[in-house]
Amino acid sequence: MKGPFVITGFMGCGKSEVARSLANQLKVAMVDLDQVITAEEGRSPAELISQDGEPAFRNIENRILTQVFLEGNARVISLGGGAWIESSNRELIKRQGATSIWIDTPFEICWSRIEADSNDRPLGRTREQASALFDRRRPVYALADICLDTKGDETADDLASQIVDKLNRL
Ligand code: S3P
Repeated sequence: MKGPFVITGFMGCGKSEVARSLANQLKVAMVDLDQVITAEEGRSPAELISQDGEPAFRNIENRILTQVFLEGNARVISLGGGAWIESSNRELIKRQGATSIWIDTPFEICWSRIEADSNDRPLGRTREQASALFDRRRPVYALADICLDTKGDETADDLASQIVDKLNRL
């Protein structure tokens, strides 16, 4: 069970916390792709999207995901919510032999976290916008190797343990 593992799912589904817990349980290194982007570019994904547009951000996201794989240290990678939606990223993830894990959290839970969070999410500023994006993306998230169905009241440690069980059964 050496990975790499990529964690995907909608904004507010709990990707980063679950990825951190999974990496702890597996005793491997974890990176948060959006944090690497912010460190490398000097601007957050939200700033990049707002200032340069989403296509420019997606190019950067793909370049930095490639770089993270090439460096090879991180065995658990938490993606931004749109990274898995890009076919170029899914192909890259497959070529790297990574196992993809979708945290499938109900929209209402994601939305309550998006609303409460101080993180700016230019692609989910209104409930209507976020809900339409959620519906459009679900079939693409469903292409992941593992789907983790959540109700939103489990702890990140519980969810990471469920992932470990599923990985053991692959
Ligand atoms: C995005 C999600 C964000 C961030 C960017 C774009 C998306 O990450 O990468 O704002 O397209 O869903 P989180 O899923 O961590 O909020």
